Amino acid sequence: MTAINLNLTGVDLRGEIDRLRRERNAVILAHYYQKPELQDLADYVGDSLDLSRRAAATDADVIAFCGVRFMAETAKILSPDKVVVLPDMDAGCSLEDSCPPDQFAAFRRQHPDAIALTYINCSTEVKALSDIIVTSSSAETILAQIPASRPIIFGPDRNLGGYLQRKTGRELILWPGVCIVHEAFSETELLKLKALHPGAPVAAHPECPAVILDHADYVGSTRGILEFARAMPGDTLIVATEPHIIHQMEKAMPAKRFIGAPGADGNCNCNICPYMALNTMEKLYVALRDLTPRIEIEEGLRLRAKQSLDAMLAMASATVGQGDVGSARVTGD
Ligand code: 13P
Ligand code: SF4
Repeated sequence: MTAINLNLTGVDLRGEIDRLRRERNAVILAHYYQKPELQDLADYVGDSLDLSRRAAATDADVIAFCGVRFMAETAKILSPDKVVVLPDMDAGCSLEDSCPPDQFAAFRRQHPDAIALTYINCSTEVKALSDIIVTSSSAETILAQIPASRPIIFGPDRNLGGYLQRKTGRELILWPGVCIVHEAFSETELLKLKALHPGAPVAAHPECPAVILDHADYVGSTRGILEFARAMPGDTLIVATEPHIIHQMEKAMPAKRFIGAPGADGNCNCNICPYMALNTMEKLYVALRDLTPRIEIEEGLRLRAKQSLDAMLAMASATVGQGDVGSARVTGD
């Protein structure tokens, strides 16, 4: 565990973070699942694909990544000369944990003819063992570019993989991983909420299980869900993904109402990502001050992982500036 002694009483955290950002020529990247105060001070807030592109393109000397470890590792793989800090090195991901590299390598050996299309929510080692990385906003565009005759392994998220299978009709050999946050949504509670708000659409992340996606009017990445919220004609949206994204929605669309979909008891905090929640203003300040915890990746491993990420960035270009590759009412088709 990372033990950080944070006695920062009286420190103007926001002022100090701004000062250090300037002094260190740092860029602060944040995911939509971060606490509102971190989203509000970030230079860029985005989904996994946006943040990868930003990390590859920035001319900053330091990238402070307010997200989870696989995201910060992606930044380091793409920008090896930059210092990349993650406020809390324990900010992992249940999908990454579900896919140990040695087991994934054995899985690949069982399917020697298959191409490995792998969700970005995985370790650097698993990226290095994969052919092409995808994010939720690029998966379908990339999948469409794989010849129909080629078998495909898809890991580690069986829900995103299942969604892609239903949407495209393409058979995928699935790794059985899940996101604990998206698995926690309750169909029963969602149906009760829909009955309370008749006519309100449901937007869901494809990491949700099929029983939730079956009730969604829109399925897509975090960025895609935000764009759906902007474009929808009504004034109320039920949001089935990590609820911190609602902060961006409320800022951009104060006249609309956004309701987080419920977890099992209808009132739990089980849809807050416990890994994302480890990052705080205090830890970001310390990370910028001390340039630690720092992401370091052995060069041979980095280069192998970079190949599959470069393939993603090249093949995902069709999604630049577009709404998303998610869509309405695809599950159960
Ligand atoms: P997005 O790429 O849609 O932002 O998803 C990242 C993630 O970890 C969702 O749980
Ligand atoms: Fe991983 Fe799920 Fe958290 Fe996303 S929400 S970082 S997939 S545990």
